[in-house]
Amino acid sequence: MDCKGFIAFTLLVITANVVADNPCQPNQLHIAYGDDLSKMIISWSTVNDTDSIVKYGLTVDSLTLIQKGNESMFVDGGNEKRTQYIHRVDLVDLKPNTTYFYMAGGPSGWSATYHFKTMPEGEDWSPSLAVFGDLGSENAQSLPRLKSDSAMGMYDAILHVGDFAYDLASNNGRTGDEFMEQIEPIASSIPYMTCVGNHENAYNFSNYRYIFNMPTDNKKMYYSFNMGPVHFISISTEFFYFPYYGVQQLYDQYDWVKQDLIEANKPENRLKRPWIITFGHRPMYCSNNDNDDCTNHESLVRVGIPSLKVKGFEDLFHDMGVDVAIWAHEHSYERLWPLYNMKVMNGSYDHPYTNPGGITHIITGSAGCSERLEYFMKDPPEWSAVRVSDYGFLRMNVFNKTHILFEQVSDDQNGRVIDSFTLIRDRHDSYNKMNRL
Ligand SMILES: *[C@@H]1O[C@H](CO)[C@@H](O)[C@H](O)[C@H]1NC(C)=O
Ligand SMILES: *[C@@H]1O[C@H](CO)[C@@H](O)[C@H](O)[C@H]1NC(C)=O
Ligand SMILES: *[C@@H]1O[C@H](CO)[C@@H](O)[C@H](O)[C@H]1NC(C)=O
Ligand SMILES: *[C@@H]1O[C@H](CO)[C@@H](O)[C@H](O)[C@H]1NC(C)=O
Ligand SMILES: *[C@@H]1O[C@H](CO)[C@@H](O)[C@H](O)[C@H]1NC(C)=O
Ligand SMILES: *[C@@H]1O[C@H](CO)[C@@H](O)[C@H](O)[C@H]1NC(C)=O
Ligand SMILES: [Fe+2]
Repeated sequence: MDCKGFIAFTLLVITANVVADNPCQPNQLHIAYGDDLSKMIISWSTVNDTDSIVKYGLTVDSLTLIQKGNESMFVDGGNEKRTQYIHRVDLVDLKPNTTYFYMAGGPSGWSATYHFKTMPEGEDWSPSLAVFGDLGSENAQSLPRLKSDSAMGMYDAILHVGDFAYDLASNNGRTGDEFMEQIEPIASSIPYMTCVGNHENAYNFSNYRYIFNMPTDNKKMYYSFNMGPVHFISISTEFFYFPYYGVQQLYDQYDWVKQDLIEANKPENRLKRPWIITFGHRPMYCSNNDNDDCTNHESLVRVGIPSLKVKGFEDLFHDMGVDVAIWAHEHSYERLWPLYNMKVMNGSYDHPYTNPGGITHIITGSAGCSERLEYFMKDPPEWSAVRVSDYGFLRMNVFNKTHILFEQVSDDQNGRVIDSFTLIRDRHDSYNKMNRL
């Protein structure tokens, strides 16, 4: 029986269960920014091979615009070799700062109607994001709060900094399906921007690569996008830790990130979008007590793998004046004083985050997962500013070209903001250059 026959059949036997089991019904809807603000990428999954169509419009009852995309069959690497179809439609020529309503699917099954808002034009607006890593399907402690915040319109976008579902590939991919359903209320309306974590490593990261469609990515797992006064760069730290999937990816990624940073630093670009913010899963620094790589003096992400001539990112980021580096992986929250090469580079003693001499690192990996929280070594290093082992997530409010407010929200403490600081940079430039002046 094909999908159309199935619909006719279910119209005869109208029971909620049969409809819910329609293998042509779109599920796991999620959206992401395209490579410019006139685009939005809509992705979803179906059990059977069906159409990839999005109907959309400016009001809920006028979905008169139609965009077609395509689907690809994904075969999970587990022993059941479960298949599903991942659909992708790129909406183009969208108007800035506009709410669109949409539904996805095709004649054999349409989703409910969802809506999203496109970014305002230009750089002079204030993006607001929720940022976290390490959110699982079980013990997804921060999810209800993220959902209610999102429903209130608090966020323009989400950054999920690696480690999904625990794991996307578990139980022959069913854990991934379940997780994508859990986040659908958020991810169907707010661009859900990702980077890859170690928990996605199964079958050469294929579940992650299929499920998430990121701008300019082409399944490489590194990309960048602009949002108001911010240039975001998403990197894969996992290439360092799973070199048997290919060392070439490390060289390629480094070269790409370097070129992207050079472009972002062209005076005309940096003037428009002075903030450069990177996010990647495993931190360069942390002071947890779990013997992860970041607890070592020379973490791979920071210094690379010299024996293979693979470069780490600290020198490059420092040289290119990256303002903020966001990480996760440690199931806790840690804020560092601005630093470079283990050395604190406070702007001044009284105002460490005003025109600092080094990158500001934040580790926020305690959204909630089956592996629970992680804790800290007894005596914090000099560069560690604030440490909390509490479930929660980070809010990032980019006020303008000089001021960003960061707030770590504790879910354990009923949504209380447990850490808050403002990073101020009047001049965004290479720290090397600034420190020489
Ligand atoms: C879904 O696909 C399976 C396998 O190809 C097929 O047997 C089934 O009839 C399809 N169902 C519908 C509703 O299209
Ligand atoms: C799928 O869609 C993308 C984006 O629209 C397009 O570049 C690509 O060629 C399409 N692939 C196929 C197989 O149609
Ligand atoms: C976006 O639109 C809203 C009204 O929907 C308006 O208040 C706001 O100023 C606009 N923002 C920009 C940056 O244009
Ligand atoms: C893993 O996937 C990447 C990206 O497609 C590819 O370049 C690499 O060769 C793959 N590695 C293995 C061992 O298949
Ligand atoms: C950096 O500034 C903070 C806040 O004033 C201070 O506690 C810390 O000791 C400073 N670190 C150094 C190395 O100056
Ligand atoms: C940027 O935002 C900060 C914090 O709201 C404010 O104090 C400052 O005046 C703003 N700067 C400009 C140029 O608007
Ligand atoms: Fe991790």
